[in-house]
Amino acid sequence: MRMRKKHNLEERIAACSDVMLYMQNQNEHANDPLDESLFFDSMRVFGNNNPLHLEIGCGKGAFVLEIAQRNPDINYVAIEKTPNVLITGMEKLKELGLKNVRFCLGQAEYLDHLFHEGAADRLYLNFSCPFPKETYARHRLTHTRFLEIYRRVLKKGAEIHQKTDNMRLFEFSIEHFSANGFVMKNVSLDLHKSGFEGNIMTEYETRFTSMGLPIYRLEAVNPGK
Ligand SMILES: C[S@@+](CC[C@H](N)C(=O)[O-])C[C@H]1O[C@@H](n2cnc3c(N)ncnc32)[C@H](O)[C@@H]1O
Repeated sequence: MRMRKKHNLEERIAACSDVMLYMQNQNEHANDPLDESLFFDSMRVFGNNNPLHLEIGCGKGAFVLEIAQRNPDINYVAIEKTPNVLITGMEKLKELGLKNVRFCLGQAEYLDHLFHEGAADRLYLNFSCPFPKETYARHRLTHTRFLEIYRRVLKKGAEIHQKTDNMRLFEFSIEHFSANGFVMKNVSLDLHKSGFEGNIMTEYETRFTSMGLPIYRLEAVNPGK
């Protein structure tokens, strides 16, 4: 079911501009040169050079807001392509007053239009859309075309932490991580029964867990360029 557009969305987004980053040139037909001054600069955004962790497809931001409170010495940028859900996270962030989080209205496809090579220390992919039809496989966020971008934006040895309820997406991800030289570790086929400590539930995770579905999780280490 399609979500109804939130009331006064444009005005509400404008009111969150102080906690928001923009990704330039998000159009596959645009050939404009990228403006160097619009790339992420940790000193300018956060006023420090603490480690940078990213989340792609953050939805309403429950995960990033919780993990950022637990880790004040890590900076987080949470990226989401749908403004209608992103606004919830941004408004909550302003309420909480956390200094180590920014939200970005943007698409994984253009991650390297915001972040320079080796900028990030970790990437979270939580319950990414599975795109079950094979004709849409290239939209899955662990498709090789995305892994090539993550390889550049993440430091060598940085980890991607993935969680999903979808076995087919999990298998697909393992195939693509493996084909692209990522080494996987801490692979779990039932996270909540695995003894893993410190798990932070996302909105979708709460929903799927209440339905009795197992949660799949892995960590994939970036082999570098
Ligand atoms: C199934 S929801 C999961 C939300 C949240 N991570 C959670 O676990 O509750 C997937 C989210 O990824 C976003 N998304 C899908 N493809 C994306 C892309 N290419 N770039 C950025 N966000 C994307 C969707 O808009 C959606 O909000």
